[in-house]
Amino acid sequence: GVKYAPFPQVPLTDRQWPTRTIIAPPRWLSTDLRDGNQAIVDPMDAHKKNRFFDMLVEIGVKEIEVGFPSAGATEFDFISGLIHSGRVPDDVVVQVLTQSREDLIRTSFASLSGARSAIVHLYNAVSPAWREIVFAMSREQVKQIAVAGAKVMRDEAAKRPDTDWHFQYSPETFSTAELDFSLEVCEAVMTTLAPTPDRPVILNLPATVEAATPNIYADQVEYFIRNLPNRQSAVISLHTHNDRGTGVAAAELGLMAGADRVEGCLFGNGERTGNCCLVTMALNMYTQGIDPKIDFSNIDRVIETVEYCNQIPVHQRHPYGGELVYTAFSGSHQDAIKKGFAAHGRQNEEHWRVPYLPIDPADLGRSYEAVIRVNSQSGKGGFAWVLEQDQGLKLPKKMQADFSPHVQRMADRLGRELTAPDIWEAFRTAYHIQT
Ligand code: KIV
Ligand code: ZN
Repeated sequence: GVKYAPFPQVPLTDRQWPTRTIIAPPRWLSTDLRDGNQAIVDPMDAHKKNRFFDMLVEIGVKEIEVGFPSAGATEFDFISGLIHSGRVPDDVVVQVLTQSREDLIRTSFASLSGARSAIVHLYNAVSPAWREIVFAMSREQVKQIAVAGAKVMRDEAAKRPDTDWHFQYSPETFSTAELDFSLEVCEAVMTTLAPTPDRPVILNLPATVEAATPNIYADQVEYFIRNLPNRQSAVISLHTHNDRGTGVAAAELGLMAGADRVEGCLFGNGERTGNCCLVTMALNMYTQGIDPKIDFSNIDRVIETVEYCNQIPVHQRHPYGGELVYTAFSGSHQDAIKKGFAAHGRQNEEHWRVPYLPIDPADLGRSYEAVIRVNSQSGKGGFAWVLEQDQGLKLPKKMQADFSPHVQRMADRLGRELTAPDIWEAFRTAYHIQT
């Protein structure tokens, strides 16, 4: 038999999202300290969380989910300590996650006591598998869980007028739930919270487990937006995961479908295969000419913090940040890149047009030197470039051809990448140069 059922299509025959382009960055929320932190082997201690938080602030992230205060004393104390530490700038708002249970919601508000401004993020799962298997509840009962939680949020906020409260609701498992039911639950939550266009509620639409192609998620988002009464009193937020490897694509198409905000983690940390990678998404925008308003001009510093705090290395091929992404080993690539750099300087081109490099590494604080490296796959352009940079030696074309087999032999013999000193040694040996 067929084990997996086909994913139901969304009844949206006149979808608009394919014709929309993204012209401005969304509101970004980093959930590195919550979704990211709950998925790592050794959760961050307060020192690591503070370091991560400071880095997020430094690169310009304005909305930061800092934890799950009702999960235990460690989380509660970190959040409370953060609020009183003076490290939350006035233009940054912290967010905390809570399940929809009265005691847990009250604990969450208590952790934020003293905050200038905060977002309380309520969630409960709405899809059939969770309703039937996890909770054994009817649709009505699941809806009432959300409404009851929203009432507690509203009342707690009213009791604490010194903080500028904002509310967020996530119909968890949105992407595998019936759209009409998600709409019904969100409408009920909105009725309870009575948002206005000036004080909107954030409705966050999770692909808790990515289960379909990204176009389907975008259809779901567009359908939701088009059928949500009082849409102008809601901020539509996207929360994608990467189970099918398309978490970023889903968030990008979701923005085209009309959403306002994106939640994710740096370098795609998060549950299982991770959340939408905010680095990839922001820099995809950057290469399309949109300032994402997150500063990755020193990406190595960001990587250092992320790797230290998560204890997970950033993959060498990770878009934009990986160690190897500005490196060309093959001769034809090296030659084209070299010509691209030369043309760039000569023609003072308005737009970046270096072959094989979709972004100027210098924009991320990376250097050009790392671009051309030499191994047994490299052509003449590669070692010629390295010799020129390292020794100021400009080899004529004929000499490059003559020297090439020496380089290849050395690379084959050593079985590894050749460094600049290796190449210089091969050159001295080949031409009997004494130093
Ligand atoms: O993936 C998810 O559904 C979540 C929610 C709690 C927003 O992380
Ligand atoms: Zn999540």
